[in-house]
Amino acid sequence: MAQRRFFVGGNWKMNGSKESLEQLMSTLNTASLHEDTEVVCAAPSIYLDFARSSLDPSISVAAQNCYKVAKGAFTGEISPAMIKDCGADWVILGHSERRHVFGENDELIGQKVAHALESDLGIIACIGEKLEEREAGTTEEVVFAQTQVIAENVADWEKVVLAYEPVWAIGTGKTATPEQAQEVHEKLRAWLKANVSEEVSDSLRIIYGGSVTAANCRELASQADVDGFLVGGASLKPEFIDIINARA
Ligand code: G3P
Repeated sequence: MAQRRFFVGGNWKMNGSKESLEQLMSTLNTASLHEDTEVVCAAPSIYLDFARSSLDPSISVAAQNCYKVAKGAFTGEISPAMIKDCGADWVILGHSERRHVFGENDELIGQKVAHALESDLGIIACIGEKLEEREAGTTEEVVFAQTQVIAENVADWEKVVLAYEPVWAIGTGKTATPEQAQEVHEKLRAWLKANVSEEVSDSLRIIYGGSVTAANCRELASQADVDGFLVGGASLKPEFIDIINARA
């Protein structure tokens, strides 16, 4: 079985100021972080350069979104090339807030995935079902369909991390149980084996997001198919260090 390096992303979302983020980054820079964990901080676009220049080089920087083409009359958008130009190596795409607040559909997300990979960015590709979809028993159908569109646009799986983020767990404090997370991650890995390849299924990091905290991260991290986390609220607090060290 492939050794999958534990991956912890901190999604700052639309939070922070130069002052508060400088404090957070200084805390991260001086903390003892488990060397076997890959750490990525996703800053608001306006702070990408600041984050890159402030964070220790051992911590990577991600954007939280990007557009699907290289340049043009798209006011307010940013391109993968601009993200790279700021020294960031990753981008989060398909986050549930982009899907359900800003109306991004699978087709657009797929196009963004393709363009960002062509631009040599790493992709944290997000999927996840809504509460009503889980209650209707359609979780698998939903996350498989989302993964299918992402997979159709991936040429290099080495640069992809798949983030399962049940919408009902994001920002709610209602974390998926370790069993719930493991069940979906295991089914996603089986889907990848059947529809992409055994090698990708074996090596792809599938991470969990949705109300991860220092209190629940270790049990979640103990699940065989949970390869890390994408953390929102807790990534802005010192407890993010405990989450990074969940497998230490
Ligand atoms: O991208 C991670 C985020 O959606 C999870 O947010 O606050 O539930 O950890 P939170």
